[in-house]
Amino acid sequence: MYVLALVTQKGGSGKSTLAVGIAVAAMPNGERVAIVEADSQGTISKWKERRGHPYPRVVRVCDPAEIESALVSLEAEGIWLTVIDTAATSNALAMRAIAMADICLIPVRPSPADIEAAIPTLIAIRRLNRRFGFVLNQTPPRGCRLSEAATSLNSLGVLAFPYVGQRNDHQDALGAGLGVTEFAQEGRASEEVHELWRWVLKELVEGSLGRGLQAKKAAC
Ligand SMILES: Nc1ncnc2c1ncn2[C@@H]1O[C@H](COP(=O)(O)OP(=O)(O)O)[C@@H](O)[C@H]1O
Ligand SMILES: [Mg+2]
Repeated sequence: MYVLALVTQKGGSGKSTLAVGIAVAAMPNGERVAIVEADSQGTISKWKERRGHPYPRVVRVCDPAEIESALVSLEAEGIWLTVIDTAATSNALAMRAIAMADICLIPVRPSPADIEAAIPTLIAIRRLNRRFGFVLNQTPPRGCRLSEAATSLNSLGVLAFPYVGQRNDHQDALGAGLGVTEFAQEGRASEEVHELWRWVLKELVEGSLGRGLQAKKAAC
């Protein structure tokens, strides 16, 4: 089972939105995907209540140790991808999510303050030696702020492709209990999330990841 964690202590950067978007994009034929919600805000659980479909499975966790047991159960159940959504704090839950992930995505809005706010998360990810990518999210159509942000993030680490634009479809999909790739299949937001999921999957496959749950658990 592959484990992807959405992390950054900056609130409002798009962790929950991208967690839902990617989880749904990863199950075009009803594949078994799960979201572990490690955030008391409950964005994912509330989304799931509006969704009339058993997948992605949603499991809420409140304690760091629960992340490991949730992942073990989900793997035993035949889930092939688990996406962990974390809170906007650098708490023990988020740290454990990073430790248990094959890859971490750090959503960042294109502003200096948002980039600065992502640095502590980046330090934690590097300390735990996890693979990661920044995702530029809620981007404007063009402009120098965008290219400056991309340059900064490229200098700090890996920048995932593509950028995810600021589009109402993301918000409307969440409200409708859908992934954005279900909500407006032909839309640009859907296209970008599909592409982002392909980027993540390539990283997971090329890195030969997803087989180390026990090893990661032991390393925590
Ligand atoms: N690419 C996007 N386009 C438009 N709105 C977005 C996008 N990404 C996130 N949002 C909106 O921004 C707000 C914060 O996103 P959210 O995923 O809840 O952030 P986080 O989980 O990091 O706190 C939500 O209202 C969400 O719908
Ligand atoms: Mg959230």
